[in-house]
Amino acid sequence: MKHVTRDNPEWFQEWANEYDSTLGKVKRHHTLLDLVVTVSGIKRNDRILDIGCGTGLLSLKFLNKTDCTITAIDSSAQMLKIFQEKIETCNLTEKIHCAQKSAEDMDFQSHQFDIIAATVALHHVNVKEPVIKNIYDYLKDGGRFVIGEIDMDTTGKLDDPERLVRILNYLTKEFELAMKEGGIPAFERMYDNGKKHILNDGEYCIGFGQWEKLCRNAGFKNVQVSPVKGFEWFKVLLATK
Ligand SMILES: C[S@@+](CC[C@H](N)C(=O)[O-])C[C@H]1O[C@@H](n2cnc3c(N)ncnc32)[C@H](O)[C@@H]1O
Repeated sequence: MKHVTRDNPEWFQEWANEYDSTLGKVKRHHTLLDLVVTVSGIKRNDRILDIGCGTGLLSLKFLNKTDCTITAIDSSAQMLKIFQEKIETCNLTEKIHCAQKSAEDMDFQSHQFDIIAATVALHHVNVKEPVIKNIYDYLKDGGRFVIGEIDMDTTGKLDDPERLVRILNYLTKEFELAMKEGGIPAFERMYDNGKKHILNDGEYCIGFGQWEKLCRNAGFKNVQVSPVKGFEWFKVLLATK
């Protein structure tokens, strides 16, 4: 495994306790996760790696779809604590193994997984290329890499007015949804995250053209992008090894 630079936001520790009652309340988030599960083409007994698993919303949807085994990693101990409690409550300790690990520090063996998935997690990684190359390495031949992400390019100079308007257009929709579906706590959280997008402070979004290029450069041959119906700023990418 290549060593890669880590730039790891700490605010997830603090968000963890409210995650399921803020973003977890937004329907769009569940629509995105459901599409990731569908697009992944999951089959019974698949071995899955969930990167940036958070409180386990995606992993649990995979297991709800079919019997599989999941390795779930996240850099936040608090997110994992909440997920681990769900795993124990649901008697899923044989099916899901959690580990505190950053995407940048992954050290799995080659050809391990049928599916590697990440939802709204990899945009927190600043230097993405080595991480995607490692993901390619950890997949079995024919394995699938699936991400559900924000389709927004926040690269560029922070004081570029066009960049600012682009990000604000996206954020306006997010704030509206958060307020409507998760109330003031969700709005406050999204508002706080919004500033981080603008200031490139732990939020490093790229567009799907850039994600596709990263996947092709890593060696993936078939790369397909699906829109999330009704939510123009979100897409799902499937790349097959
Ligand atoms: C927005 S949450 C998404 C959680 C979950 N995937 C979901 O869709 O509900 C982002 C998660 O990524 C984790 N994270 C952020 N940077 C990370 C990194 N560099 N490596 C691993 N996990 C990271 C955070 O701790 C957080 O749990």
